[in-house]
Amino acid sequence: MKNIFILILIGLLNCSMALATNSKNCLECHAEWEEEDGPTHLFSKDIHFQKGLGCVECHGGDTEAEDMDGVRSAKNYRGVPKFNEVPNFCARCHSDATYMRQHNPSLPVDQLSKYKTSVHGQRLSKHKDKKVATCISCHTVHQIGDGKLPHSSTHPLNVPETCGKCHSNKDYMAEYGIATNQLDDFKASVHGHALLVNKDLGAPACNDCHSNHGAAPPGVDNLALVCGNCHAIESELFLKSPHMKAYAENDFPMCATCHSNHRIEHPSDKMIGSTEPGICADCHDHDDGTRGSQTADSVRNAINALVAAHEAALTVLKDAQAKGMMTTNEEFLLKEVDQSLIQTRTHIHSFDASVVVPKAEEGIAKADSVKVKSAELIDEYYFRRKGLGGATLVITFLAILLYLRIRRIEKPKG
Ligand code: HEC
Ligand code: HEC
Ligand code: HEC
Ligand code: HEC
Ligand code: HEC
Ligand code: HEC
Ligand code: HEC
Ligand code: HEC
Ligand code: HEC
Repeated sequence: MKNIFILILIGLLNCSMALATNSKNCLECHAEWEEEDGPTHLFSKDIHFQKGLGCVECHGGDTEAEDMDGVRSAKNYRGVPKFNEVPNFCARCHSDATYMRQHNPSLPVDQLSKYKTSVHGQRLSKHKDKKVATCISCHTVHQIGDGKLPHSSTHPLNVPETCGKCHSNKDYMAEYGIATNQLDDFKASVHGHALLVNKDLGAPACNDCHSNHGAAPPGVDNLALVCGNCHAIESELFLKSPHMKAYAENDFPMCATCHSNHRIEHPSDKMIGSTEPGICADCHDHDDGTRGSQTADSVRNAINALVAAHEAALTVLKDAQAKGMMTTNEEFLLKEVDQSLIQTRTHIHSFDASVVVPKAEEGIAKADSVKVKSAELIDEYYFRRKGLGGATLVITFLAILLYLRIRRIEKPKG
């Protein structure tokens, strides 16, 4: 295989040496007449080419033939697959575990079976729908990349546009009556910003929530788990919360009920509360017979108190710093208060005041301690200043005494 790779490369570089190699004839002749975006010109960026596979591996044909008629007359010539044949065309190798193991044992061989369960695959097989995505809509043809390579259409930074080329095209999607705002919404979301602006590859692209090949909206049952792949604590708390069962029964889309799915924003404390703009008010009111509103208020009050305690501590700490006091310990402790604040906000997903309030109180106690200790530093500053004033007075007094004494000694007697 390695040899073929090298030989194709040489062929592509227009080496004039006469090499009787797999696909060399195909490449040489095709390169002559193809337009600039033809298969042979794209092919050097294709993972198959890079791993030593040539045109014949996919298209078949007689590699010795001098012209295309000769190529076509070979028994193994597969030609070009029709739209609905593409999945099987690719899966001939990709679903063949024995074959794939020889090349790359770590590569899954389930793409076709997963694709068949997707809305794309279902519509292709049941409705012969030619507008859905097949393997090559997402992976391209002749320039198929490993998803880790930046030029690949399935690299995380490129996936949103790859899906968006159909899903954000209003005319293309019109007949289905589904929304076409997923790409725009995603771009405006915390996730889109993290991925596309900050290039944070830890943030999800479309396929992290929809899966690579299963493309279907994550079902209500697994939605919390999809988000939980990355937001483990929130998900764990949510699954144990009273909302889990209630949302499942009502078919509410779990995390997306409060955060939306594509346009997820940076959340804030304002979202908690039994009155607008608190989202709890969307479903709870004070006389609905549940502890919902009461919990919303207790939790919000606890977080407000922690935020206030944090601010008060910070003000006094800054004052102590401005007076030049050593505040290393207090700064360290304030970082722990920051941590408490993060944890308290995360723990709202228990939707249980008896979980959230103690977390907040822990933070408040630490914040109060920063405030007290910083205030002590300020007292110490004034004490030292007073001390310094007293000492200066005494020294001045002694200096005057000494001066008078010297003058008396120096005065000539009589
Ligand atoms: C001597 C030149 C020449 C060689 C060698 C050649 N091709 Fe072609 N091929 C063409 C031309 C010209 C066309 C398009 C015009 C046509 O249909 O004849 C074409 C078309 C094709 C097509 C489009 C589908 C079809 O059946 O028309 C495929 C696929 C293809 N070639 C694959 C191959 C493969 C694989 C090889 C090597 C085994 C190969 N070609 C060797 C000249 C060649
Ligand atoms: C990984 C499999 C694969 C390899 C390798 C491959 N092709 Fe293709 N090729 C396809 C598929 C799939 C199509 C159908 C594209 C479509 O329906 O739009 C296609 C279409 C074509 C076509 C007709 C449409 C077009 O894009 O012009 C030609 C000609 C062609 N291939 C030539 C080649 C040549 C020459 C090579 C080697 C440089 C090659 N292919 C390597 C999968 C492959
Ligand atoms: C002749 C067998 C064969 C056919 C047909 C084939 N592939 Fe491949 N494909 C391979 C091999 C071998 C690799 C390289 C595996 C390796 O060494 O990493 C590969 C790699 C890939 C990769 C990169 C996987 C990764 O992340 O490393 C993608 C994506 C891919 N193929 C998609 C396709 C698509 C789409 C088609 C159909 C148009 C197709 N393949 C047809 C054999 C094939
Ligand atoms: C809706 C878009 C889409 C369709 C359709 C699609 N893929 Fe993929 N595929 C992806 C994405 C996204 C990835 C993940 C990034 C990567 O590894 O390339 C991926 C990954 C892969 C990989 C790497 C291994 C893996 O499973 O993660 C292979 C091989 C592959 N696809 C082959 C195929 C084949 C064969 C088909 C058709 C049966 C197909 N894909 C259909 C989007 C798609
Ligand atoms: C070639 C165009 C095309 C591409 C590329 C494409 N899709 Fe689709 N997708 C469609 C069409 C058409 C439908 C069918 C719409 C329907 O039946 O509601 C669909 C359906 C879906 C659905 C189901 C929608 C529903 O009705 O519930 C999801 C989810 C989806 N696609 C996600 C993706 C993701 C994620 C990607 C990229 C990895 C992607 N698609 C790439 C065309 C495409
Ligand atoms: C953070 C996870 C996440 C990401 C990232 C994501 N989706 Fe979704 N998507 C969802 C959820 C959840 C639903 C189901 C909606 C519901 O039930 O509320 C959905 C629904 C859909 C649907 C069905 C129609 C609709 O709007 O309800 C399509 C199509 C779709 N997504 C495409 C995309 C595309 C394209 C991207 C990338 C630009 C993307 N999604 C990114 C989670 C995500
Ligand atoms: C692939 C990992 C991944 C998945 C899956 C994921 N997220 Fe995220 N999410 C992130 C990352 C990374 C950030 C941080 C973005 C930043 O602030 O830089 C984030 C940020 C957030 C934020 C904003 C946090 C803040 O403090 O501003 C919310 C809310 C959120 N995600 C909710 C969700 C929901 C709901 C889902 C499921 C529908 C989900 N996420 C799926 C990785 C993920
Ligand atoms: C989308 C609707 C919805 C939203 C938004 C919502 N809840 Fe709920 N909540 C429910 C449902 C439904 C139940 C189950 C009520 C029952 O048991 O009858 C529930 C139950 C609860 C319970 C348990 C009540 C009990 O008496 O056992 C608490 C506590 C709670 N929610 C707090 C909150 C808080 C706090 C918020 C805001 C951060 C909130 N909820 C937002 C729908 C919602
Ligand atoms: C009933 C509404 C509701 C549901 C359901 C919900 N959240 Fe939240 N979430 C909130 C509120 C309110 C905040 C803001 C907390 C704050 O900033 O005070 C938040 C904040 C967040 C944050 C940022 C703060 C942090 O925890 O780091 C993330 C991430 C997050 N949620 C993820 C999720 C995930 C994942 C799920 C599903 C497992 C989920 N949320 C379900 C209401 C909800």
